[in-house]
Amino acid sequence: MTAEAVGDRPVARETAQRTIDVDGRAITLGADRLAQPLAETLRAAGVTSVKLPCGEGTCGGCTVLLDGAPVAACVTPSARAAGLRVRTAASVTAAGPGATLAAELARRGALQCGFCIPGIVCSSAALLEQRGDLDAATVRAALAGHLCRCTGYEGIVDAVLRAAAGTPGAAATRQDGRGKADGSLRYSADQVPDALVGLLLTSRGPHAHVTVEPGDALDVPGAVAVFGPGDAPARRFCTNPHVDDPVLAPAENAVFAAEARYVGDIVGLVVAETAHAAREMAARVRQVEEPLPAARTVAEALADGAARVQRARTDLPGNVAVELAFGADEAAVSAALAAAPVTHTSTVEILPGPIAALERPAALATWDDGRCTVWSTSQTPQVVRRRLAGLLGLDAATVDLRPVPLGGGFGLKEEMFLEPAAALASRGCGGRPVRVEPTRAQLGRLRRRHAGTITITSGCAEDGAVLARDVRVVLDAGGEVGHSGLVLENLLLLATSLYPVAVGRAAGRAVLTNTTSSAAFRGYGASEITFALETHLDDLARRFGSDPVEFRRRHVLRAGQVDPVNSWVVASLAVDECLDALAAAGDATAALPPGQTAAGEEPGRWRRGSGMSMFAIVTAASSAVHKDSARARCRVGAAGIVVETVVPDMGQGIHSTLAAVAAEQLGLPAERVVLCQAAAAAAPADEGTFASRGVYLTGNAVAEAAHRLTAAAEHRLGWPGGTLRWTNDGAIRADAVDAPAVPWSELVGLVAEAGVIAEDNGLVVGAQRVDVAVDAWTGRLRVERVVSVHDVGRVLEPALARGQVVGGVLQGIGVATTEQARHDGGVPLDVHLFDQAIPTMALAPEIQAVFVGDGAARGRLGAKGLGEAPMVGVPAAIANAVRDATGVRLTTWPMTPERVLAALEDPARSPSRAANAPAPP
Ligand code: FES
Ligand code: FES
Repeated sequence: MTAEAVGDRPVARETAQRTIDVDGRAITLGADRLAQPLAETLRAAGVTSVKLPCGEGTCGGCTVLLDGAPVAACVTPSARAAGLRVRTAASVTAAGPGATLAAELARRGALQCGFCIPGIVCSSAALLEQRGDLDAATVRAALAGHLCRCTGYEGIVDAVLRAAAGTPGAAATRQDGRGKADGSLRYSADQVPDALVGLLLTSRGPHAHVTVEPGDALDVPGAVAVFGPGDAPARRFCTNPHVDDPVLAPAENAVFAAEARYVGDIVGLVVAETAHAAREMAARVRQVEEPLPAARTVAEALADGAARVQRARTDLPGNVAVELAFGADEAAVSAALAAAPVTHTSTVEILPGPIAALERPAALATWDDGRCTVWSTSQTPQVVRRRLAGLLGLDAATVDLRPVPLGGGFGLKEEMFLEPAAALASRGCGGRPVRVEPTRAQLGRLRRRHAGTITITSGCAEDGAVLARDVRVVLDAGGEVGHSGLVLENLLLLATSLYPVAVGRAAGRAVLTNTTSSAAFRGYGASEITFALETHLDDLARRFGSDPVEFRRRHVLRAGQVDPVNSWVVASLAVDECLDALAAAGDATAALPPGQTAAGEEPGRWRRGSGMSMFAIVTAASSAVHKDSARARCRVGAAGIVVETVVPDMGQGIHSTLAAVAAEQLGLPAERVVLCQAAAAAAPADEGTFASRGVYLTGNAVAEAAHRLTAAAEHRLGWPGGTLRWTNDGAIRADAVDAPAVPWSELVGLVAEAGVIAEDNGLVVGAQRVDVAVDAWTGRLRVERVVSVHDVGRVLEPALARGQVVGGVLQGIGVATTEQARHDGGVPLDVHLFDQAIPTMALAPEIQAVFVGDGAARGRLGAKGLGEAPMVGVPAAIANAVRDATGVRLTTWPMTPERVLAALEDPARSPSRAANAPAPP
């Protein structure tokens, strides 16, 4: 065992040094380390098996075993570990129950992004070492302090139980599973361990001119540099990197803002040798803010004479940044509604919430000989590469983004907002690597989910047939346009696609306010419009005395019909199968009937009911004016086939799925194919991982590349087309041709690349039934069961698909019932992970995943995407279930106990309408 020193200053040995045994390696502390968090000390010593999701003691992701007892290393002083034995996931999984647990977790369906897993492994191993006879309740209790944003916890609990029982699961192991379980997988934070620490400087007021001077920050030992607005290049950029459009994605950001547009806007950066020194520097920087008039709500932003949220946007007449309309003209819709025998109008309000992937977004940059290399948590590496080069005035060939796994993304990592700061800082520090990662609280002030109001009016015939529909939307963009234009566009398009009407229109606007910038989130636009539309339809069905399933069946779009938005013939849409499966599954799993009381409950206290909703999402970013595309490469490697893509895996298992696609197309077992995420500069062109496009776009590109590889091999060998067979014994054989088998080694290096262009948006449909219990005394809302049905065309990886559904449904429950990102006077309140209230194990209900499909989706695979779908319809189904249980229509998410109780006590008083909610456009 060797001892390594970790500390900032030399001090007397007898008082200053302590030793910690970390996974069998001795780490000696300097005195200045003793008060620092143990997690920082370990990571500074290169221990990457300890992750730091929150750094606030909330998530359990940094858990290590301190002399056998689980502790959160981010809030444990290093001094507490002096002289003790620290075990991380690395040693815990090396042998014994921990090794069994790691094997179980590595299976598909048990884990996803893996960022929470090393901490969970440590707590679980402690439990397994104490006792072997575990049940689910015991495991849940032991892991109650751990947060996982991806899995819905089901796979984790199952893995612990299997490890305890010694009954291995049946699902195959993920390619990245073992590294996630033992903590050895190197995320962005684990690259270049000796990188300088870049700590963001952020604004304190909702709208202000800001100057940043070093003050005496550079006197701090370990200080390296201070950057402020004066160090930013003149070029501006949009954090939404997808489109070149001055309206949808305007160049509105400086790298460091001189005009801060919300509390928490990025105004500068301090760079230091250590995190501790960076914090000290940030406290000493002279940051002066000159307040400007602010519009803190949508109502204020739309008022006459409102303060301008972005004073530099002289192209805007006010604070309405984006205004879009689709469908019939307004006069035609008004006339159709006026002529309809029955009209119904409803309004919902979406309150902002956190995005909350457990891995925070981060960027690490370094320069060498005029070339910039970035390790970024980006979901879109090639897009960011292009944008970053443009911003820095460089040829794209001199910028590269290196591949890293993502610890979750859920849309936030589509944005480019840290890479420019890291690149500038590194260049300013002589090319030394600089790593920029916001603290959890900074992230809570920087980004949130969209808020808004949606009003729908339907005009119906006497028999309930919907004749006309008008949809009006106001989104709160926050201080930047960012993704708001695309979120609004997606929302409006989906408003008119699933239930076509003869005369329909969807119009809306995204309004700038001096509040936290709104960012992309899983199913953006889709979940918001689904909440509005499916609660509206539920009320319509009641009004006409229709069964809710049959009412939807009567109006929904079907395969073979024309997509009313894009005029495409819909290739695949198994709506009737979805509704049939929902009805059948619902009957089989009916909750306690309404009005009945469960054992142990006070009579009359809990009210039970069921609700359903349908939804549609797109799985390709194609539209009438843009066609989404992807490329992939397959090559023959020494040990098997290698699939190359630039698409990152953010936990959904797309890498395992792409490898399985190639294996299926080549007729090989999955273990014969490995997936390699290539650097952005070298990889085939592909926009990345977002909008559930991985299978539909990149998957089909991989399938095509696999076929081309076979054709290329046949050509090389002079065999007729369609005769070559790859075999698992490492040889290539020809069917119906008199040719000797050829060893794979003769073809090593053979490459084929292929691309696909989506001719439609791969519309996916699904439905869910939710059973709830509502506590009439407290307003507590408990989701007891969910049946979640999805048409994905064809299911490629059942275990991964189920994992996506379970995790997505729990995320939908969180969005609908607990998660929040409130503001007060422009000041964000819920900036810490604890306050944001993402679901714990305690909230996870029984979830049944059902897959249907016609396998008729375009492309070789006959499959569509799934990633975003499972959460999209859940809030609407919960609201409909509450209506069923209580007779009260809740129209605001999140449906917190306060709102539920207020509605129960006074249904006439709308608990959902915020005082400042604006009138629809
Ligand atoms: S990182 Fe320590 S509890 Fe979250
Ligand atoms: S797998 Fe738990 S946070 Fe992603």
